[in-house]
Amino acid sequence: MIILIGGEKGGTGKTTLAVNLAALRALQGRDVLLIDTDIQASASYWTQSRDEAKVQPRVACIQKFGKGLQTEVQDLARRYQDIIIDAGGRDSVELRAGLVVAEHAFIPIQASQFDIWTLGRMDDLVKTAQGFNPNLKAWVVISRASTNPSVTETTEAQGILADFEHLHLANSIIRDRITYRKAARDGLCMEEMKPVDPKAAEEMKGLFAEVFNHE
Ligand SMILES: Nc1ncnc2c1ncn2[C@@H]1O[C@H](COP(=O)(O)OP(=O)(O)OP(=O)(O)O)[C@@H](O)[C@H]1O
Ligand SMILES: [Mg+2]
Repeated sequence: MIILIGGEKGGTGKTTLAVNLAALRALQGRDVLLIDTDIQASASYWTQSRDEAKVQPRVACIQKFGKGLQTEVQDLARRYQDIIIDAGGRDSVELRAGLVVAEHAFIPIQASQFDIWTLGRMDDLVKTAQGFNPNLKAWVVISRASTNPSVTETTEAQGILADFEHLHLANSIIRDRITYRKAARDGLCMEEMKPVDPKAAEEMKGLFAEVFNHE
């Protein structure tokens, strides 16, 4: 399965989701490849920290930039069971190429940035990609939400998303928790943190199920 985690806004938690999903998939015994298409290379640094700490299972990661991404991913998909592409926070060639090869795209958006402009742009990008990749489905994930859950955040998101034909709302919400920042530094996923933050582990497993149960 080829999954893209992307979006035009910076710092919404794309890399955090990509590395967590990759590690959880690897923990299931799957052969997974993380593709880092961001020159900031945060996903690559995460795998580097993981390797340095000798955390098992290893998560393979490569960096790939430019238009050739599409062909490269199609080729790599024959060698890996799953590919997770982390696309940087801007409208990039990599984001567009990723949308053309992915089966599912997940777009994390912070509740505070949940605006029509951002979503409109993403809706257009997804629509264009679907012209080449009719099976593509795209979900918006509310990310870095306050740990003071408000009922309105989902209702508001649903209301705004209703106007966009090509975007769906994921059921899972990822909240802003210190453990995500610690895990990023140590090359770990929520499940592997000691002590584990049960709420973070739970919400990430929920998202994981949504991402991979569409198979
Ligand atoms: N749910 C969360 N709770 C707390 N901190 C988070 C969460 N998600 C991400 N962060 C932190 O916010 C910062 C940005 O997150 P991340 O790198 O995942 O975002 P990004 O969308 O990949 O950013 P970029 O657009 O720069 O690639 C990092 O320091 C990360 O540890
Ligand atoms: Mg990133």
